Order: sequence, then structure tokens, then C-alpha cells
Amino acid sequence: MTHYENLPATNGIDNSEKLFTDSETWSAYGAQWNSGEQKTLLCCDVREETHDVKTFSFRCAEFSALSFEPGQFITVSPVIGGQTIARCYTLSSSPTRPFSFTITVKRVPNGVVSNWLHDNLRAGDSLIASGPAGSFTPVGHPARKLLYLSAGSGVTPLMSMTRASFDMAARLDIIFVHSARTPSDIIFHHELTRMQTTQPGLRVLNVCEGKGTDADWNGPLGRLDLQLLSEQVPDFREREVFTCGPKGYMDAVKDVLAKGGFDFQHYHQESFDIAALVEAPLIELAPVVEQTAGLFTITLSRSGKTFDMPANQTVLAAAKKAGAIVPSSCSQGVCGTCKTAVLQGTVEMNHNGGIRQREIDKGLRLLCCSRPTSDLVLDL
Ligand code: FES
Repeated sequence: MTHYENLPATNGIDNSEKLFTDSETWSAYGAQWNSGEQKTLLCCDVREETHDVKTFSFRCAEFSALSFEPGQFITVSPVIGGQTIARCYTLSSSPTRPFSFTITVKRVPNGVVSNWLHDNLRAGDSLIASGPAGSFTPVGHPARKLLYLSAGSGVTPLMSMTRASFDMAARLDIIFVHSARTPSDIIFHHELTRMQTTQPGLRVLNVCEGKGTDADWNGPLGRLDLQLLSEQVPDFREREVFTCGPKGYMDAVKDVLAKGGFDFQHYHQESFDIAALVEAPLIELAPVVEQTAGLFTITLSRSGKTFDMPANQTVLAAAKKAGAIVPSSCSQGVCGTCKTAVLQGTVEMNHNGGIRQREIDKGLRLLCCSRPTSDLVLDL
């Protein structure tokens, strides 16, 4: 069984001759796309999951394998109206299938990139992307009993985790409770239903706010509350919990778990509201007053570019002003997209969870929230 059997392709436009190549496929075998690198991706397929959600399948143009942990995201940077706009999307596929990977995207009102992807991206098209990044992953939190709680498109990182444990034959005890508006809004409904018939230990429960057009729906109706959770997952206090969804949903989940006496040492949620960040308007940075004294010299080791910048500016802003191409998305130190190795020199970094201590220990920094405290040499 594949992950995607019986799902219809919906792109309608056949650019697929671009996807056929010759022996390059195997000559590139073994190359890797690692965290922080930028790649050209080729869209291989577009599939409709629900009326407003599509899964986009990609491979690296030169066949690199994407090295990531389930739950992480990539940042795609399409050119829309002549402007490059970067947005983060969680990978919905499993890292056990590193050569072809997917993002699953919901249309959102005024969502510049999400709606552009839905309306424009077809098999054979290419995109620039960077990543992978993110710390919402089960790696580092080993547990045999898990509870996945998601709402809406928050299902994507948990789907990646479920697919990974399926492919690895990990035989984990997973209860996956997904909340949706109506049965027709349930993302991955058929695949998860199939998976629970063949994966020992996986149980899937969908909770819908209303029946919508599905008069035959006989699953739970309403919202997840302590009564429903206690009935369906009586041992929830013994499970490692991973939660992803809109902020209001995650707040409600925390409230339910707190009322149920859950130990929050075993609780993990997406560290930022990816749904909000994905389509948040670009942040207008306060104008920087240029200093004429105390300038630092920044050298980009790969391109050989050199520029001077004041200490009160972020390295990202100064690098972009100097014409350097630096992948970035949130500009708030949360998404990890601008993670770059500082080869020489020191910065003051005030991040919001977009980098791990072990990465800092290796010399990586988030340029969007780093200000120089000396001359720098960057791995750019
Ligand atoms: Fe998101 Fe720097 S751009 S952490």
C-alpha cells in the first residue's frame, strides 16, 4: 500500500514531461538537503484532500534526499507579482521517504501564498525552498504511548509522525484525535482510516463540530472536552501528547488537559502558531537609525561579498540591504529559516524558539534576531 493510493490527481495541466529525466536520477543518489540549505524543488503532483486543502508533492530538482524529523517544516519562496514571498509549511510526508516529500496546504482568506499555490502550482513547476526547520518533533521524546491532538490543517505534522511510525513498523501505541468542522473537512480521512486497519496500535478518532452535508456521520459531534477525552482515551495521563492547530484550539486543549490533571512535562505543541505565521503580513520593521560610528564588517564566505553594518541593526536586514540572498520567513526568531553558521565573530541573539541549543553550540545563529558585537564571517 502506498500513502496515496486511490487519491485523484487534480492538477489538470500536464507539465509532467519536465519530470522525466535520464540517468541523473541515480548519479545524484546519496546527496542530501540539510537544515538551512536552499534548494530548487520540482512539483511532482498536486492532490485534492478536501474542498479547500491540497497536497503538493515535490522532489529536489537534482534528486537530493531531504533530511528532516517528522513535524518539521520547510519555507517555500514563490515569486508572486514580481515579489519573492516566503512562507513556512509543515511537511506532511514521512522522513522515511526522503526523495519525494509533501506539504499539505489549506486555502485561507487573503492567504497570499496558500491561495497562490492552490491556484497556480502544477506538476512540473519549480519553487525555491529552504529548510527544514522546527522543533515540534518526537525525536528526543521517546515514548511508547502517544496521543496526537490536531485541528484543521494542524493535522500535517502529526500525519508525518504517524506515517513515519507506520513506515518504520515502530508498533507505537498512538491515539490520533482530530477535530474538524464537518466530516467533509477531515484531512487524510481515508488514509488514516486505512492505516488503522493495518497498523497495530493506531486508533483514529475524528470529532466534528457539525454534520455538514454528511447526514450519516455517526462519530462524535461537538468539541473535544474532558468528558469526551476521558471516555475515548481513559489513559491520556500516561501518554506523550503532541498538539497542533489554531491557537484557540491549542489553548482549549491545554485547558482540558489541565482540568484532567495531566503532567505537562509530557506535552508538546507547535512552538508558534504556524497557521497564523504562514500567512501573516510581512512585519514592518521599525526604521533603523543608521550609525556612522561603530560599524562592523560582515564577510560572506561563499560569495566573497563584504559590507559594513551598524550594531543596532539585525544581520538579516543588513545582509538583504547589501543584496545578499538569505532565506527568511518570520523575521521573529521562530521559524528557523534564516539559520546560518557564524564562522568568525560574535552576535547578540534574542530568538523565540526557532533554534535549538545544540545548533547554537555548533555555531549556528538566526540572523533575523541577531545583532553583531564584532566583525563577522558568515557561511553564506
Ligand atoms: Fe524566521 Fe529568522 S526568519 S527565524
